[in-house]
Amino acid sequence: MKYSFSSIAVTLVVSTLISVVQAAPSLRIADGDKSIQGDSVALGLRIVGGDQSAQGDFPYFVEMGGCGGTLIAPDTVLFAAHCDDYTGRQVIVGAYEKKTVDHGAVIRYCDEWAKHSDYGIGGQVNNDFALCKLDEPVFVDESHVKLVWNEDSTVPATDDDLIVMGMGRLAEGGNTPNFLHDVTVPVVSNEDCNSMYSNQITGQMLCAGFPEGKKDSCQGDSGGPIVKRELQDDGTFVDFHVGVVSFGDGCARENKPGVYARTSAASLFIRETACNEFNSIASFCDEDSSKPIQITDVVPVSCDEVELDVSVTTDAYPSETRWLIYDKKTKINIMERQYYLPKHQNDHTVCVKKHRCYIFDITDSYGDGLCYQPDECGSYLLRTLGEDPFVTGDGDFETEETAKFCVDFHGKMVNRLTKLTPKQKRKLKKQRRAISKRAKKAALKAARKQARKQATKNEKEDANNDISE
Ligand code: ARG
Repeated sequence: MKYSFSSIAVTLVVSTLISVVQAAPSLRIADGDKSIQGDSVALGLRIVGGDQSAQGDFPYFVEMGGCGGTLIAPDTVLFAAHCDDYTGRQVIVGAYEKKTVDHGAVIRYCDEWAKHSDYGIGGQVNNDFALCKLDEPVFVDESHVKLVWNEDSTVPATDDDLIVMGMGRLAEGGNTPNFLHDVTVPVVSNEDCNSMYSNQITGQMLCAGFPEGKKDSCQGDSGGPIVKRELQDDGTFVDFHVGVVSFGDGCARENKPGVYARTSAASLFIRETACNEFNSIASFCDEDSSKPIQITDVVPVSCDEVELDVSVTTDAYPSETRWLIYDKKTKINIMERQYYLPKHQNDHTVCVKKHRCYIFDITDSYGDGLCYQPDECGSYLLRTLGEDPFVTGDGDFETEETAKFCVDFHGKMVNRLTKLTPKQKRKLKKQRRAISKRAKKAALKAARKQARKQATKNEKEDANNDISE
């Protein structure tokens, strides 16, 4: 998948190469970089022509396994549409050292994914924007650097210096680094860029690079941020997110600047998706409180009925592994996960209902289960109430393994359900009613709070207007 996009970049010039590049996915690729591990040509080079970033320099950077991304709100990541559907996928927020959660990075999952509705319209990679809603928010330390996504179409100006970062290749066709890298490149006007890219550059794109090349983003940097850094009076920085790494003809070539999806052009998409679709807690969504608050906007913080613990330890090829749990009767997906960190134990809490049956379905896209080698297997287990695991697997399967289980009236995992007694039925009904009542009450309370907040804000604005008149 990561390779198929590089073909898009190549089409711009050598369309005959496409078939060659697209043949790559048949190789077994461990998160995108295995096939190039033996390649040592690029040793000594950086991002392309950049440097290893300092730890904490870009706390909003998100490592997405083959792509980069930007935390634009505690629960929202902005990246590239050409990176594909990320629903259920593991990402690392605040990533600095590749494939680790060292240096304060944290693991999250994309619970929802949306790409720009005009992606690919008016150009093959036009509107290369996507957003992912995280399963849990991350509050990064903004005391040194704060990220703001730019909505001003006059920013950046031609020749402005921008910083692009990522864990992508250090040279065209080269190796990838173990740490985050960044490089500074100047903005090229769309007009000049169009002359170098045979008029493929749209208003939704932004170009940056030197005439002589040498410094650029490259494969694997896609989706990541290019920012305009501004020093504040207090010595801190504000990084304006002005573009998403999108494509280029090769990397760091002469007269072939990197091409980015222009953030200001995605303003509506970002606001509508994050604020209305994702119900993000983003501060930029606060102003949108003109929309009536829905009771359903308030997500229950705790698990209503039963917490099912799912623990999955990956093998050396984590991205081949994916599992989901769905309701056996309604077929509704309860949770879906796909991994990025190798040989890592991942613990999840899934909210399930009493007196219901579910299917746990785990697949390996390569067909060797969770076993990279016969003696190097991952494993999984499912349990409730802290009891002994009820569903377990040693990872020794081929492409798929499924297990059916039920959760009884007490929250215990069982093979099949027995009929509820009339008394139990009444009790369960009563419990569920109490839960929904509690949820409604909480929602109402939140709605009132928000209304009050808005009222104070309006008052303040009125007061300010009085002064300026
Ligand atoms: N499409 C590439 C990716 O998937 C990013 C290419 C950026 N190229 C460039 N020359 N700036 O990672």
